Amino acid sequence: MIAAIAKESYPAEKRVALIPRDAAAYRKAGLDIVVEAGSGDAALHADSVYEAHGARIEPDRAAIFSAADLLLTVRGPGAHLGFPAADLDRLKKGAVVIGFLEPLAQPEAMRALAERGLTAFAMELIPRTTRAQSMDALSSMANIAGYEAVLLAATRSPKMFPMMMTAAGTITPSKVFVLGVGVAGLQAIATARRLGALVEAYDIRPEVKEQVESVGGRFVELEIESETSAGKGGYAAAQSEDFYKRQRELLAERLESVDVLITTAAVPGKRAPVLITKEMAEHLPLGAVVVDLAAEKGGNCELTQPGVEVVHQGVTILGPLNLAAKAAYHASQMYSKNLTSFVTLVVKEGKLELNLDDDIISGTLVAHDGKVVHPAVRKALGEAD
Ligand code: NAI
Repeated sequence: MIAAIAKESYPAEKRVALIPRDAAAYRKAGLDIVVEAGSGDAALHADSVYEAHGARIEPDRAAIFSAADLLLTVRGPGAHLGFPAADLDRLKKGAVVIGFLEPLAQPEAMRALAERGLTAFAMELIPRTTRAQSMDALSSMANIAGYEAVLLAATRSPKMFPMMMTAAGTITPSKVFVLGVGVAGLQAIATARRLGALVEAYDIRPEVKEQVESVGGRFVELEIESETSAGKGGYAAAQSEDFYKRQRELLAERLESVDVLITTAAVPGKRAPVLITKEMAEHLPLGAVVVDLAAEKGGNCELTQPGVEVVHQGVTILGPLNLAAKAAYHASQMYSKNLTSFVTLVVKEGKLELNLDDDIISGTLVAHDGKVVHPAVRKALGEAD
């Protein structure tokens, strides 16, 4: 069985799905590895190092796709056109594709994979369970995004983060507010604290208070009529428009003196909630910087434009895309490890073992045997079970 790695073709994607040192685990699972020449360059992994770890380097892209029994990708087909249809056409019927496939945002692309007779696993769907922790690629990438968001804000802000006592007077620390304390938010708090900022944070799930405090932030509680805050698997649940309205009113007061606002609020499978209206952004102090990590899911701030830097009445709003790729070396290290853990769960002695009684395998399987099989994706396609 051949595990193939093709060069990612999405613009500015620098991550690679396999780093050389993880090749040994694939070989132990009975897989041969073929890597398109140059795939690891942007993540600092030269072809020669893959070869030294037992992979074969293939300069011909078409040959990569026709040889693959298992295609390992960062961005999947259809995920913002991770790679073109011509590549997909070369895949064998029955080949397995594993990567960030955006199954809920792009269900039609999942149907296209199924119709080509491919078996597809979406890394976004790895369950958030203790057993699956080593495969949790979403957490890996969110961690990096939280860190990078703070660095971005720190370089855009006209103020410095730490307090400084200087001969020219005292510099007061920046005030950072983190809205949404999942994996990215928690890392953003920790990073901003390390840079010396004062950090406050809020999340709809009150249980994160202790986590915020453990990394040096102050948890802000809003007096809000409680609806169900926790959804399935530790995620937040969607709220009513009345709730979001009240939340925005209460937040507005808290944000009047922030220098940096980092927003990460998300509800799986839904558009990100709008928590910062245009009017609220206009009331932020002059020079404030908003980094909206929910930009790819529609944005937490009404003024966010994905991938664009917006300056509105002296406030800068950034909606960065694919922040994890900025730290391509470490993002690839983490993703490759997550993927290796998953692949060695589904491939035993060179064969795909589709044990659907395993919640990690069944929870991640999107397409098989010509059909979209994941219930949430089927629902998104309007297909009844
Ligand atoms: P996410 O990216 O889906 O959401 C980010 C944050 O936004 C969440 O903390 C959510 O509560 C918050 N949010 C949603 N609506 C909001 C609103 N209206 N106002 C304020 N905040 C709002 O979440 P992520 O980072 O993917 O993970 C969320 C949680 O999942 C973790 O904190 C943890 O509890 C759980 N998890 C469990 C793991 C495990 O057990 N292995 C691994 C990773 C996460």
